[in-house]
Amino acid sequence: MDQLSLLKPDDWHVHLRDDDAMAAIVGATAQVFGRALVMPNLRPPITRVEQALRYRERIMAALKPGQSFNPLMALYLTESTPEEEIARVAETPEVIGFKLYPQGATTHSEAGIRSLEALDPLLETMAHYQVPLMVHGEVTDSNIDIFDREALFIERYLEPLTQRFRSLRIVLEHISTKEGVDFVERAQGPVAGTLTAHHLLLNRNALFVGGIQPHHYCLPVLKRENHRQALLSAATQGNPRFFLGTDSAPHHRSLKESSCGCAGCYTAHHAMELYATAFDQVNALDRLEGFASHHGADFYGLPRNTGVIRLERRPSNIPLELPFGSESVIPFMAGKTIPWTRTEDPSNSGD
Ligand code: DOR
Ligand code: ZN
Repeated sequence: MDQLSLLKPDDWHVHLRDDDAMAAIVGATAQVFGRALVMPNLRPPITRVEQALRYRERIMAALKPGQSFNPLMALYLTESTPEEEIARVAETPEVIGFKLYPQGATTHSEAGIRSLEALDPLLETMAHYQVPLMVHGEVTDSNIDIFDREALFIERYLEPLTQRFRSLRIVLEHISTKEGVDFVERAQGPVAGTLTAHHLLLNRNALFVGGIQPHHYCLPVLKRENHRQALLSAATQGNPRFFLGTDSAPHHRSLKESSCGCAGCYTAHHAMELYATAFDQVNALDRLEGFASHHGADFYGLPRNTGVIRLERRPSNIPLELPFGSESVIPFMAGKTIPWTRTEDPSNSGD
């Protein structure tokens, strides 16, 4: 298969940042994806519908004229989220759920959750309104090995949570382990998971080969090859519980290439080409459309997009760096060539 035509995809997990940084990168997502679920981990975090709608307006204002892109917002769940906010989300189509960050798990998670049990009343209300919970699934205890944090979170917190709230809609974000895949596959209730291009393409060797590679550092951290294989198989089996979420997370170059580099891979610039490269590795290009364009919309109860994007087997050169606010961002796989290219379809522009 050398040419692919896909229904316009959606990105169900992206970091668009804000201000001039956002203006520099939002186009990369908006020109390919019909919708994206925009993460709320700004400083300060987006915890209220009103704030999310204002953030959404800033995103819309940064789009090129005629670009049709529908950013959908997630609120940052905190221990002081008022119950009324859940009802407000349920009646606001532009805001589609809550993101749960365990405190200290990742970038800007200081306002996150310390005790999951304390959330039970809020989760009960979310289940009642059928408002989804998107989960960063890692324990944060400093004595737990960083490579075990996802598996332990599932065992300690997520499994029990799904038992307590059987009808709660849950998305385990950026799954990085076989245990994460097993959890989603086995869950009885409405549970799904997103998979990033970087976790599908790289294992943890990529952090260290040839020297320390800060641009491959993300959270959850890359895992062993057997985990990558499990993710690839989950993405490509046609299971509607798995769908595309890039977790594209740009940072200024100086913050990544630092004595304490921050977490995040910037994949939005070539997202679909990267996913095609991963699916091609296991001869599963015929499954890419379901993963990228059907399963997420179906899970969130939203209509599938109209319009198409096209990809072809022709090398793409990934730039060494890209403008990003006051500085630059190093894109994922900078300076490398990948075998797939997205072709512009003139009849589709502005769609
Ligand atoms: O690698 C990551 N970067 N993982 C996250 O969970 C957050 C993200 C960010 O915002 O930079
Ligand atoms: Zn993220």
